[in-house]
Amino acid sequence: MADAYKIIDHTYDAVVVGAGGAGLRATMGIANSGLKTACITKVFPTRSHTVAAQGGIAASLGNMGPDHWTWHMYDTVKGSDWLGDQDAIEYLVREAPAAVYELEHAGMPFSRTTEGKIYQRPFGGMMQNMGEGPPAQRTCAAADRTGHAMLHTLYQQSLKYDADFFIEYFALDLIMENGECRGVIALCMEDGTIHRFRAHNTVLATGGYGRCYFSATSAHTCTGDGNAMVLRAGLPLQDMEFVQFHPTGIYGAGVLITEGARGEGGYLTNSEGERFMERYAPSAKDLASRDVVSRSMAMEIREGRGVGKEKDHIFLHLDHIDPKILHERLPGITETGKIFAGVDLTRQPLPVVPTVHYNMGGIPTNYHGEVVTVKDGNPDHVVPGLFAVGEAACVSVHGANRLGSNSLIDLVVFGRATGLRVAEILKPNTPHNPLPKGSEEQALTRLDKFRYANGGSPTAQLRRDMQRTMQAHCAVFRNNELLAEGQTKIDAIAKGIADVKVSDRSLIWNTDLVETLELDNLLDQAVVTMHSAANRHESRGAHVNEDYPDRDDANWMKHTVAWLGAGEAVAIDYRPVHNYTLTDDVEYIKPKKRVY
Ligand code: FUM
Repeated sequence: MADAYKIIDHTYDAVVVGAGGAGLRATMGIANSGLKTACITKVFPTRSHTVAAQGGIAASLGNMGPDHWTWHMYDTVKGSDWLGDQDAIEYLVREAPAAVYELEHAGMPFSRTTEGKIYQRPFGGMMQNMGEGPPAQRTCAAADRTGHAMLHTLYQQSLKYDADFFIEYFALDLIMENGECRGVIALCMEDGTIHRFRAHNTVLATGGYGRCYFSATSAHTCTGDGNAMVLRAGLPLQDMEFVQFHPTGIYGAGVLITEGARGEGGYLTNSEGERFMERYAPSAKDLASRDVVSRSMAMEIREGRGVGKEKDHIFLHLDHIDPKILHERLPGITETGKIFAGVDLTRQPLPVVPTVHYNMGGIPTNYHGEVVTVKDGNPDHVVPGLFAVGEAACVSVHGANRLGSNSLIDLVVFGRATGLRVAEILKPNTPHNPLPKGSEEQALTRLDKFRYANGGSPTAQLRRDMQRTMQAHCAVFRNNELLAEGQTKIDAIAKGIADVKVSDRSLIWNTDLVETLELDNLLDQAVVTMHSAANRHESRGAHVNEDYPDRDDANWMKHTVAWLGAGEAVAIDYRPVHNYTLTDDVEYIKPKKRVY
C-alpha cells in the first residue's frame, strides 16, 4: 500500500492538529518553550470555526459591576447540571481573567467602556452572588465578532514563534504503539502527498462534530476528525450524548444569532406575542442557560404556539433597542439577519429556532489537556503522547450543558495549560525512537478504500440520511422509543458507508474524497452519540429523555465513556465526576435543583 503513495517523513517534539483558538494557543505555548513544533490544519488558520464565535469570552474581570471567580465557578457548575469536574472548572475560572488580559495585550480589539476598559455583557446563566443574581456582566466582547477578533490576534501572534504550519493538510489517523501516541499521518490536499509526523506529543484541537446534524451553526468543516481518529485508535469518547442546541439559529439557514442579542436586551415571543420565558425561568427569563431556553422554545412550538405558516419557529425581538446600540454592539447579526432571514431587525423580529451549536462531549482529558481513558480499573489513565483541547476535548468543564462564552475561554485557558504540560514533561532534543513498522498502514488502507469506492450510495445521500436521523431522533427532546429507533437507523446508515461511491480518483484537491473521509468520521460519532444517549436513563442538561424526566444523581452523576468496535458495536463504561475542587480556596459546590 505504501508504494502507491509518496510518503514524506517529519520529526517534531510536538504536533498540534487544528489551528482554531485552542490549537493556536497550544502551538504558541509549546513553540515558546523551545520545543520543535508543527501545526497541521485542514483550513487556513483564520478560517477555523473559532472565527464564527460571536458574543464573547467569559472572565470575571468585574469591569461593569461586581464579579468574582467563585461566582463564575458556581454558574459553570450549575450550568453543567453537576456533570462538570469541579477541579477543572476551578482551574478554568481562576485562569480566565489572565487569559483575557493576555489576549488584550496581544492586540485583540475588544469593545471598550467609556473608561477604556474591556466591555462586558450579560450572557445566559452568568449571575452574581453564587447564582442568586442579578445577572453578571462577565462576557468580554469585541462587538459580536469576538471569535473573529480572537482568532486573527492568535494567528498573528503565532507567526512570531518558531512553529511550522502545514496548511490544508487533512489528518488521517494517529500513529499508536502499545497504547502510546507516536504521531499522526496526514494528507496534503494540494498535491496528494502523505505526511508522516513522528512526534513525542500529539495535540488534537480539531473542534466539534456539529455537522452530524441537519441544522447546525457549525461550519461544514466541523466534522470532529480528531474524535474519530481517537475512536479508530481504540480509545473512548466521553459524554457524547450531550449536544447543545443554541436557542437562536436563524430559522431555515441555521446561522447563529448570538446570545449577546438577548444579553443586550433582546427577548423571545410566541405566536400570541407572549414573552414566554417569564413562565419557564421567572428569574433569569431570556437569559436562562441555553438548554433551558431551547427546551422552552421547543415546548412552545410543540404546544402550537410557534410562529410562521408552519408554527415551527419563534420570534427574537431587537426592534425595541436603539439602532445606534445595535450598530455598535451587534453589527454582525444585523447584517446576517438581512442576508439570511431578509429581516431589518431594527424594525422586525427575527425568526429563530434551536439549532445544534456545540458538543459538550469529546475526548476525555484532565485539566492539563492529557487524554485519559479507563484502563485496568483506573478511570484516569493518561494516554502517553496524546493531548486534546477545545471543543474536541471533554475536560470536563461544561458537563451536561455549556454556558455561552465559556467556550472561547476554554480554548485559551486549556490551550495554554497544554503548552505548559508539554513543556514540563518533555526536554528539548529528547531523542526519538523509530516508528513501528507499517505505521502508515491503517491510514493508507482507509484512504485507498474510499478513494476507489465504487458503490451505489453517493456521499451526499448518506450524509443527508445521517443528519436527518440525528435531527429526528437525538434532538432537544428524546424518549426511549425515539432513541431505540434512532440506534437501529444510525447503525444501518453507518454500515451503508461500505456502499459509498466516490467519483474522483485523483489526489489533487479531491474534495469528493475528503468529504467522504469526513463523513466516515461523522458517522462514527453519530453512532456513539445515539448509543450514549439511549444508554443514559435520566434527564440532565442538554440530554432530556421524557421517559426519565428527572436528574438522577444517585445513579447517573457519572461520565459516559464509549468505545466503538467493529460493526458499529458501542461499548460503554463510566468515569466518576470529580466532586472535589483544585484547592481549598473554594468548597465543593453541592448539587441542588437547577432553576433559573
Ligand atoms: O451566542 C453566542 O455568541 C455564542 C457563544 C458561545 O457559544 O459561547
